[in-house]
Amino acid sequence: MTKALSIQSITAHYGTTKVLEDLSLEVAEGELVSLLGASGCGKTTTLRLVAGFLQPTSGRIQLGGVDLTRLPAHRRDIGLVFQNYALFPHMSVADNVGFGLKQRGVAPAEKTKRVAAMLERVGLAHLASRLPGELSGGQKQRVALARALVIEPPLLMFDEPLSNLDAKLRVDMRVEIRQLQRANGTTSVYVTHDQEEAFSISDRVAIMHAGRIMQLDTPETLYQRPANAFVARFVGFENLIPMRVVERDGAKITAEAAGGVRLTLGLEQFGAIPDSFTLACRADGLVASPDLAMEGIPATLGLRTYLGRAYQYQCDTPAGPLLANGPLTRPLEMGGQAKLVPVPEQCTILAAETA
Ligand SMILES: Nc1ncnc2c1ncn2[C@@H]1O[C@H](COP(=O)(O)OP(=O)(O)OP(=O)(O)O)[C@@H](O)[C@H]1O
Ligand SMILES: [Mg+2]
Repeated sequence: MTKALSIQSITAHYGTTKVLEDLSLEVAEGELVSLLGASGCGKTTTLRLVAGFLQPTSGRIQLGGVDLTRLPAHRRDIGLVFQNYALFPHMSVADNVGFGLKQRGVAPAEKTKRVAAMLERVGLAHLASRLPGELSGGQKQRVALARALVIEPPLLMFDEPLSNLDAKLRVDMRVEIRQLQRANGTTSVYVTHDQEEAFSISDRVAIMHAGRIMQLDTPETLYQRPANAFVARFVGFENLIPMRVVERDGAKITAEAAGGVRLTLGLEQFGAIPDSFTLACRADGLVASPDLAMEGIPATLGLRTYLGRAYQYQCDTPAGPLLANGPLTRPLEMGGQAKLVPVPEQCTILAAETA
């Protein structure tokens, strides 16, 4: 039976060092939420708190409306899948997978049936009697997954489960994890520092930094509409240009950046634009044009690199250094002048106080 997870205003310390501050997270029933962030930001700590391996300094954790905060780890009934598999080396694949069922007092015949069905599901039926030492990394990972799923826990938590696997297997396994998680409708928290992995597998992603959640949203929203400068940089907006509105004219505004650079922006594209804001765009959304009559940011082109789909230019502008792309059909000379033209659909606006 699956249940919603609610983490409420958790603060956590190791000794006297604060590692999580006032962290709240709601994971709906059947939802998969990833925690994504750089090494040391507190992802594993968050899982340890939910699993009961660490006590919060303050705050509350509920699963299906029941308070877990003071419940010992072994009574929390959570399926865990870790990077290092943590399989029992002297037990067969089938015994590893059946271990949790045995512990929970499931009758042997029922246990055998459920283990066989789960091994079938993860494609390991033919390896049931092997020892973990006789398996590849991907096979071990599937045993760990089967072992967590077979107990049909109300909550599954994954901590970098794929980081020991090669690139191709990582992609195959994340699809497998997502399919199994969806089929069972198990509420899940998935930790990774790989953005593509998090975005591809999750219903929503929490981007973490220094013990806090900077934004929690769908992958699409995070990618296109980051809420603040930290998240914008994290999802690849290379250019963050501080601007202020100097003129409002119906559906358009004129804004000025450093060095007197002026741009016209349409309100229908951006919605309301505050007086002070940051224009964020990826290099793909800032086109280097040799047509100096165009409205854009005047630039001197520096280093040109070839990306396969475009050329990329390091640019010097009155508004600071910027990164722009230009078409393959027309490579521009390094040292030459250009206008950098923002593509409105690929730009977003950040309120000044978040930049
Ligand atoms: N047992 C511990 N004692 C003291 N400090 C710890 C302990 N475990 C982790 N920390 C510190 O707490 C912070 C958060 O660690 P955590 O393991 O949650 O990071 P993480 O986001 O999982 O990082 P990674 O991606 O490297 O696994 C780090 O600064 C880390 O050094
Ligand atoms: Mg970790």
